Amino acid sequence: MIARTQDADGPRRDMRAFLRDLPKAELHVHVEGTLEPELMMELAARNGVALPFRTVEEARAAYEFTDLQSFLDVYYQGCAVLREAEDFADLAWAYLERAHAQRVRHVELFFDPQAHTERGVPFEAVLEGLRHALERARRELDVSGGLILCFLRHLSEDHARATLDLARPHLEHLQGVGLDSSERGNPPGKFRDVFAECRRLGLRTVAHAGEEGPPAYITEALDALEVRRIDHGVRCVEDAAVVERLAAEGVPLTVCPLSNVKLRVFERMDEHTLRRMMEAGLRVTINSDDPAYFGGYVEENFVAVQESFGLSRDEVAALSRHAFEASFLEEDARARLLAELDSYLALDRAA
Ligand code: ADE
Ligand code: ZN
Repeated sequence: MIARTQDADGPRRDMRAFLRDLPKAELHVHVEGTLEPELMMELAARNGVALPFRTVEEARAAYEFTDLQSFLDVYYQGCAVLREAEDFADLAWAYLERAHAQRVRHVELFFDPQAHTERGVPFEAVLEGLRHALERARRELDVSGGLILCFLRHLSEDHARATLDLARPHLEHLQGVGLDSSERGNPPGKFRDVFAECRRLGLRTVAHAGEEGPPAYITEALDALEVRRIDHGVRCVEDAAVVERLAAEGVPLTVCPLSNVKLRVFERMDEHTLRRMMEAGLRVTINSDDPAYFGGYVEENFVAVQESFGLSRDEVAALSRHAFEASFLEEDARARLLAELDSYLALDRAA
């Protein structure tokens, strides 16, 4: 018999099923961070790339991180198996199938072209593979999606500009640009000019800020890069003025709870600032970041925060609603998916 555990909302379907079937949008997931060890080994064999471990278990055992940099070292190493357009298509497709199984209805995928072009992989191969998987997902899974090109902030602004030049003939395939990699010591302002150029070209902008870096980086991302969303932003609570501004301006934050614990931004989930961010009225969304490395996809992130903070169904639903609202979907598609969320919630209430 399936357990029908009662939660604070009453004797309805159990919370786990509610979270699984909740329509979701994912706005913060790095496609390279969805590379499961099984696929990594397969691609390594296919492309003749040597890996520092022999088995899937050995790979997983290596996924113990002390901070963001210790993770990034492993993440970039994993990227070495990605060489052909087909590899990128297989990678993204594997993620999209898993996301679909968790009722993710819309995805905005980050990708790090510099991690590939630096190794001699053509920008076009990366883009072609990712686009192929996204088009297949739209056709076969009814999951919509787009791509956000992230600049690696540990590299120079000139390097970012050269990457933008590679992307220039393909801008219609990008929803926007982002900023990721090592945050400390690489403030958003370092990329002011290239982001201004991206905005002139009609690209939306987002940036990782306030993950390991100070709240001032959040302000800088808003002012110098004119971002539409802040990725992570969990350290905002250290500065009341920053929280106030995020609330007043309704800036969406793409929070990745399992990532934050795995990278030791917080030692335990119950120390996470999510609850305080929600109480401050911030437009928080829940995301997986690099699910193959952090022990869970978006559903597991919802489960973790619901359990740690005892979130009600209404609170969980608000987190999901924020993601559709903060997405770069066209208005009609957004309205359709919000209606799907509303009818799901209405059916759940009626049960
Ligand atoms: N690249 C992949 N995951 C990242 C994260 N959590 N922070 C910064 N850069 C990243
Ligand atoms: Zn991230």
